[in-house]
Amino acid sequence: MRTEILRVDHSSIDIGAIRRAAAVIREGGIVAFPTETVYGLGADAFNAKAVARIFEAKNRPLYDPLIVHISDRKDLPLFARDLCSTALKLTEIFWPGPLTLVFKKSGLIPDIVTAGLDTVAIRMPDDRTALKLIEEVGRPIAAPSANLFGRPSPVTAQHVLEDLDGRIDLIIDGGKTAVGVESTVMDLTQNTPSILRPGGITLETLKETVREIDISRDGNILSPGMFQLHYSPKAKVILVEGESKFQIENIKHLAHEFDLQGYAVGILAKEEHKYKYVKFKVKSLGPGDDLAACAANLFSVLREFDNNGTDIIISESVKEGGLGLAIMDRLRKASGR
Ligand code: TXA
Ligand code: MG
Repeated sequence: MRTEILRVDHSSIDIGAIRRAAAVIREGGIVAFPTETVYGLGADAFNAKAVARIFEAKNRPLYDPLIVHISDRKDLPLFARDLCSTALKLTEIFWPGPLTLVFKKSGLIPDIVTAGLDTVAIRMPDDRTALKLIEEVGRPIAAPSANLFGRPSPVTAQHVLEDLDGRIDLIIDGGKTAVGVESTVMDLTQNTPSILRPGGITLETLKETVREIDISRDGNILSPGMFQLHYSPKAKVILVEGESKFQIENIKHLAHEFDLQGYAVGILAKEEHKYKYVKFKVKSLGPGDDLAACAANLFSVLREFDNNGTDIIISESVKEGGLGLAIMDRLRKASGR
């Protein structure tokens, strides 16, 4: 299969390109497209065979359900049951945007999309190309992130190509995505709303709207996709936590040891600490007080280390407030914790 690439200008709507991509999806094809978080790999959510191709292209296990993307809040009741006032409030405030909500599902969504669960994850992305694409398809688009299963999510069309060239029909190249980490996944099917995956909308922001949020990671509801090893570059990732001075000392020590053993070591540091590691191959995650910049860089730098033949990435930590929660979640998973 040849993977076609369609470039679109992010500042305007390229309706010709979007209609072509929509036609491919309507005919059962699978298309990578930009969202505000990461690139998605989309299929017609009503077409079980097309959705099966997504799992195949990504090597994704069938027990890991996909997010259903819609272009209009008004369509929500078609796919979700038991909408509570909290749900409606959240969609009013945060859609379009990086918040995925899990509901009891209606009968319209095929089982393969939701991995046989009686719940469905739905989101309305905040990206003009993505919204127009869904609208032109005329049906919801089922889409996971457009990476091979377990790899860091793609924030550029180039990242999608690295993983999926020849395995998918088309890529809409809309440039680098803005947020850089995936949407926050929030479960609304239990008495207490809970965060299944921290992401683009922060816990602090959600708490201003819904006081009672459960973030206990080992609550009774789990996202089937929350595996231990995830978002992983080919290199081994070691995440060093703790007080700043300790982090730096520890990283220098580890880097020195692994270097002596002949490993190609890379260090992922906050911008302000880069100069501490001049003896090693060091990349900046971004300024420690600009977590949005760090989130936007995260998956790109992990992939850059891979492309430079790094064996071991030793990473600093960021503060866990705001977007830092999502960043640390991804780094912990990348390190296999
Ligand atoms: O930002 C995003 O959310 C991106 C863009 C493309 O929209 N999508 C994305 O999809 O990250 P994916 O498949 O890589 O991650 C979706 C997560 C998985 O961990 C999956 O297990 C979980 O959402 N999920 C999906 N449906 C669920 C459900 N019914 N119940 C619980 N978790 C669910
Ligand atoms: Mg993913």
